[in-house]
Amino acid sequence: MKRVAILLSGGGSNMLRLVQDMTGDHPARPVLVASNDPQAAGLTRAAELGIPTAAVDHRAFPRDRAGFEAALLEPLLAAQPDIICLAGFMRILTPDFVARFQGRMLNIHPSLLPKYPGLHTHARAIEAGDAEAGATVHLVTPVLDDGPLLGQARVPVLPDDTADSLAARVLVQEHQLYPAVLRKFAAGDRIPVLLQG
Ligand code: GAR
Repeated sequence: MKRVAILLSGGGSNMLRLVQDMTGDHPARPVLVASNDPQAAGLTRAAELGIPTAAVDHRAFPRDRAGFEAALLEPLLAAQPDIICLAGFMRILTPDFVARFQGRMLNIHPSLLPKYPGLHTHARAIEAGDAEAGATVHLVTPVLDDGPLLGQARVPVLPDDTADSLAARVLVQEHQLYPAVLRKFAAGDRIPVLLQG
């Protein structure tokens, strides 16, 4: 059974879907949900599900990314995860941190990478007049929102879409995509999952 740690910064809807899927014959189980924000709603949701949680407030480490990561590593290493899932984790990780978990850290990003790494992905897709938007799950490398593709879900951009309406439609697909990818990845299958919403 693979041990999965999930890092988040916000509401944790993707975390919830990953956790809900990790039962029965799923080859993995959640062992930790950690956040850089002690107020993150996702921490409360995880605790309610009986999953161990940890919070390391990045604001306690101004201009000290290495110090923040050293503090985050304590609960993370103690949980002995085989796989780390970034699920709405909004801190950039240093190459040193990424190297520790190279090949076993996954991220979900709300765009059809390589398009629109970084922030404001949905507004940028609308602004560009794209016919499609979506979400990508990839292995994390030291380059932000880069790395080998593990899955992608595509949704049409509708004529009246705002960034918020598009984000909501993409999120529905994220909730299908990320559990599907994790289930395969934990079983050793790296063939990308491709979904059309
Ligand atoms: C998701 O849309 C995820 O793709 C995005 O944050 C949201 C988190 O929602 N991630 C990023 O932007 C990473 N740079 P959630 O907390 O409800 O899962």
